[in-house]
Amino acid sequence: MATTAQLVALVTGANKGIGLETARGLAQKGIHVLMGARDAQRGQAAADELKAQGLSVEFIQLDMANSADFPHVQEYIASTFGKLDILVNNAGIMTEVTDFGQPNNAATIPMKLLRETFDVNFFGLVELTQILLPLIHKAEAGRIVNLSSILGSLTLHAQPGSPIYNTKLLAYNTTKTAVNSFTIHLAHALKDTPIKVNAAHPGWVKTDMGGKDIAPMEITDGALTSIQLATLGEDGPSGAYIHLQDTLPW
Ligand SMILES: NC(=O)c1ccc[n+]([C@@H]2O[C@H](COP(=O)([O-])OP(=O)(O)OC[C@H]3O[C@@H](n4cnc5c(N)ncnc54)[C@H](OP(=O)(O)O)[C@@H]3O)[C@@H](O)[C@H]2O)c1
Repeated sequence: MATTAQLVALVTGANKGIGLETARGLAQKGIHVLMGARDAQRGQAAADELKAQGLSVEFIQLDMANSADFPHVQEYIASTFGKLDILVNNAGIMTEVTDFGQPNNAATIPMKLLRETFDVNFFGLVELTQILLPLIHKAEAGRIVNLSSILGSLTLHAQPGSPIYNTKLLAYNTTKTAVNSFTIHLAHALKDTPIKVNAAHPGWVKTDMGGKDIAPMEITDGALTSIQLATLGEDGPSGAYIHLQDTLPW
């Protein structure tokens, strides 16, 4: 349980991958972390793993495709902590074949797949952020981190020869472009407040999504950008698109 002076963070999709490592990294900094997961068993198991390391975390039921969960999360945070210092919108799906060499699917993608990906990666993220925003305003210096991807960069997609030029996964990529746009818009809406909103590209990371055999980056390194943006100082950016120390082209 958080102490009164302790910062409180919510990480969505925290039961594995980059979300789990982000939760671990934030908790290791003394932050109380609510670990969102859609599956209670997987979420509880992940929280138990971190608790066994002496970290201050707890599991919270949160399915990003089910907005009925959002008011429960909001009510729990409001009644237990009265504020939310950090929101890491980490949960995401890529249901297109994760063979990164597959052909461009823009002309053939089923609408169902496109809509399902937008539901989790974009609409859920926007709705959860909106519902939690009053609690983030109550924190001294709120931080919102939106997990994007370099695959959301329109500049790089339009540039022949760029490292992502041939990775045209319409559903995943366009949800991340939309997340980038939301980041810029929300940062603008909050520009006269202490709250900072940024988009993170974690790198190409050895998770279930990134591909454990093909991705070059360890998961601990993949969590660094999220942790850095979640704990930015007053002089840090807002409305930026960041990978480690680099700013990416939109
Ligand atoms: N790995 C990479 O190379 C890479 C690169 C760029 C960006 N990213 C982004 O980084 C974030 C984390 O990715 P990852 O690589 O850690 O992926 P991952 O290992 O597949 O983990 C994704 C997490 O999101 C959760 N999730 C999926 N749908 C959900 C839903 N409806 N409600 C709640 N949670 C849900 C998963 O829960 P379940 O276990 O229940 O499925 C899991 O905890 C994603 O937003 C991804 O797009 C990853």
